[in-house]
Amino acid sequence: MTNFGDYQNEIYAQGLAGRPPDLPMTYTELETQARSALPADIWAYVAGGAGDELTQRVNVAAFGTFGVVPRMLRSSASRDLSIDLFGIAMPTPIFLAPIGVIGLCARDGRGDIATAQAAARTGVPMVASTLTEDPMEVVAAEFGATPGLFQLYMPSNRDLTHNLVRRAEAAGFKGIVVTLDTWLYGWRPRDLTLATFPQLRGHCLANYFSDPVFRSLTPTPPEQDLQTAVMTWISLLGSPPTWDDMIWLRSLTDLPLVLKGICHPDDARRAKDTGMDGIYCSNHGGRQANGGIPAIEHLPDVVVAADGLPVLVDSGIRTGADIVKALALGATAVGIGRPYAYGLALAGVEGIVHVLRCLLAEADLLMALDGYPAIADLSPEAIRRIT
Ligand SMILES: Cc1cc2nc3c(=O)[nH]c(=O)nc-3n(C[C@H](O)[C@H](O)[C@H](O)COP(=O)(O)O)c2cc1C
Repeated sequence: MTNFGDYQNEIYAQGLAGRPPDLPMTYTELETQARSALPADIWAYVAGGAGDELTQRVNVAAFGTFGVVPRMLRSSASRDLSIDLFGIAMPTPIFLAPIGVIGLCARDGRGDIATAQAAARTGVPMVASTLTEDPMEVVAAEFGATPGLFQLYMPSNRDLTHNLVRRAEAAGFKGIVVTLDTWLYGWRPRDLTLATFPQLRGHCLANYFSDPVFRSLTPTPPEQDLQTAVMTWISLLGSPPTWDDMIWLRSLTDLPLVLKGICHPDDARRAKDTGMDGIYCSNHGGRQANGGIPAIEHLPDVVVAADGLPVLVDSGIRTGADIVKALALGATAVGIGRPYAYGLALAGVEGIVHVLRCLLAEADLLMALDGYPAIADLSPEAIRRIT
């Protein structure tokens, strides 16, 4: 069996042949190079967060307040990082979190397709955003044998919501992630400084513009009158989803439903009572509400309240060690966000594959060296608060 940590052997072997890696080996360097590679407005949109970006910073810093307890003589020569999610066997415990403008992070503007291709290459599932440059059917066609999930932003129009769900089912998505924390946009000073927002220029709205229900709502087709189509899109925002909407959504589909943005145990319990299949603990990477509590701090209580439901988590995952810590704190699967956007910006599909392989290699080697051969071994005793 190949361990993910073997990626380092490949890199050293290339080095012996005089070919050190072109792509960065640290997150800091990845971020620095991505900043130069991306247009200023896209960089602001991806790298920026809400307010003074406190939440975004503490999301990352919080991982430094935990340490992994080393155990010895525990037969960790080979590791098993596979998980089961909604009855689907997955080779790794990570997934590609939904990123609305990922399309624009690729030089050719086809970043959604590149991400789907990276998912096919690595077995790491993509959660495809509602906000894509290419319609969900085109994205899903690139998944290969890797399952994909669709992330739903619920428009205020129920017929449109219903049709997006129907399309996700027909396109072969294996589950739907409903994002609850973005029914309007947070105060984002970097975007405000440039006064740019990609969707207002008609970007990332392909799922709407290709949808017959949306097209029936806009007076002229988007190809003829982009601004009017964008205004129609704006008119569908701004109404906060309710628990009744979740009950209605549940009645629409048999696909696994996951609620994204759940950080309070009471909300997790209610999600379970409403018939949801999973909880996704996230503060949107600090892009929406700048409340200042790291997502990982919420995770343990949410896991207890979820009472056996799978719990996904993201916000601030930058290293393989962060993945191991999130798993030890009870996550079922761990979402990678900005790091893969930066990999894409630097080197397309190869860049995403590199970022994912680095994260998995580091996680795998940490589990090997600290004596945790399988994810099931990463119980709460494997982790300790250090500050
Ligand atoms: C540029 C950008 C766009 C995003 N778009 C979406 C989106 O369309 N839907 C969604 O549910 N989350 C979206 N997110 C949030 C991510 O899914 C994830 O929660 C976040 O990136 C995690 O934080 P991190 O990247 O700092 O680790 C976006 C994040 C970024 C950085």
